[in-house]
Amino acid sequence: MSKYAHLYSGIMKAAKPSKVNQIMAKQKPGAIHLSGGFPDPNYFPREEIKEIISYVMDNEAATALQYGNPAGYPKLIEHVVEIANSKNQKTKNENVMVVNGSTESFGLMCKAFVNPGDYIIVEEPTYSGAIMAFRGHGANMLPVPIDDQGVIPEEVEKVLAEKEKEGIQVKFMYILPNYQNPAGVSLSLERRKKLLEIAKKYNVLIYEDDAYIEFRYEGEELPTIKSLDEDGMVVYTTTFSKTLAPGVRIGWVIAEPELIKGLTAAKMATSLMSSPLNQALSAEFSIRGYLKNHVEKSKELYKKRKNYMLEALEKYMPEGVTWTKPQGGYFLWVTAPEHIDGEEMLKQVVEAGVSYRPGPSFYVDDTKGWNQARLCFTTVDEEAIDKGIKTIADVIKKLM
Ligand SMILES: Cc1ncc(COP(=O)(O)O)c(C=O)c1O
Repeated sequence: MSKYAHLYSGIMKAAKPSKVNQIMAKQKPGAIHLSGGFPDPNYFPREEIKEIISYVMDNEAATALQYGNPAGYPKLIEHVVEIANSKNQKTKNENVMVVNGSTESFGLMCKAFVNPGDYIIVEEPTYSGAIMAFRGHGANMLPVPIDDQGVIPEEVEKVLAEKEKEGIQVKFMYILPNYQNPAGVSLSLERRKKLLEIAKKYNVLIYEDDAYIEFRYEGEELPTIKSLDEDGMVVYTTTFSKTLAPGVRIGWVIAEPELIKGLTAAKMATSLMSSPLNQALSAEFSIRGYLKNHVEKSKELYKKRKNYMLEALEKYMPEGVTWTKPQGGYFLWVTAPEHIDGEEMLKQVVEAGVSYRPGPSFYVDDTKGWNQARLCFTTVDEEAIDKGIKTIADVIKKLM
C-alpha cells in the first residue's frame, strides 16, 4: 500500500481504476485511433498563430504578459460579446467570463453551486470529462436518458418532481444541445423550449455545453438554449478548443451578471485568471477572420470523413448493429447487440491495432454501455477509417 494512502481525500480514495483504461493502455504504437476527440493536428493553423504571437508581442506585450482581469482579457471579452450577440444571446461584457477551456467551467459550476452530496442532472450517456469533474467535486449525478432528439424533457421533469417530493433542490442540469458527446445527436427546438419551461418551474439552472456549435455539416442551425432564455436560467459555455486548438486552453461562459460574479470568485480561487497571452492570441485570431476561415476548412475535411465513416459502417457492420447519423460535431455512436461481450470486443479491437472509446466512459454507472462505442472521425484519413471500421466490424461479427 502507498505510504500516502491515508492522506488522500475521500473522493480520491473512492476513485477506482477504470477497466476501460486498463484495456486501452495496451494500445500498440501506430494504432488507428478512433477513440480521441481531437482536431486533426496536421491542420493546426501554425503560420497564422506565429504571425499573431509576433503581433501581440509588438503591440500588446505589456498587458498580454501581465496578470490580468479574472473575468477575462478585455479585448477577448468584447469579442466574445460580439460572437454571442451574433447568436442572439443578448450579451454584455458583464455576462462573460473566460475560462481555461470549458473543462474549467465544470469545476467552477460545482464550486459555485454544489456542496458535496448535492444533486445535478446529466444526460445518459454524457461527456466523460464532465462526469469526472462532477464526481471529483462530490456531486450526485442523476442520469436522464437521451434518444435521437437529445435528452428527453419528460424524463428530466420526472426526476425533478421526484426530488422535489423528497425536499431536494437539484442544482443544475448539464445539457449538450448540439452533436452530443458521445452520441452525436442534437436536441430538437421543441425540447430546447421545453427544458427552459422545466428549468423555470423547478428553479434549476440549465448548464449548456456547446463545444461543437461551429461544426454543423448538414441541416439548419438551431437557436442555443441561452438565446431562447428570457429568465436568466442558462449558464452557457463553449470553447476555442475545437475551432482554434485545444492547446490554447481558452473557452468562455455566458450567464447573468450575478452568476458570473459568483463563478469569477470561484475562478480567482482556482486559477486566478486564464492566460492573458492566450486570450490575446485567441481574440486576435478570431477578430482577423482567421478563425472563420480555419473552421470552414476544418468543416469541409471533417464532413467528408464523417460521410466516409458512415459509408464504411454501412459496408462492414453486420445486421443488428446500429449507429447515429450526426448532423455535425466530431463523433458518432455505435450500438452492438446487448448480449455481446463488450470487454472482449474492446480487448480484441485494441489487440488488432485500433481504438475506440467504449460506452462505460460515458455512463455515471460505468458498468453500463459495454456494447456501445464512440467513434471520432476528425483525425483519421479515409484509409484509416476503412481499416478501423472493418476491424471493429470483424470483431463484432466474431462475438455475435
Ligand atoms: C462536450 C465537451 N465539452 C467540453 C469539452 C472540453 O473542452 P475544453 O478543451 O474547452 O476544456 C469537450 C472536449 O472534448 C467536450 O467534448
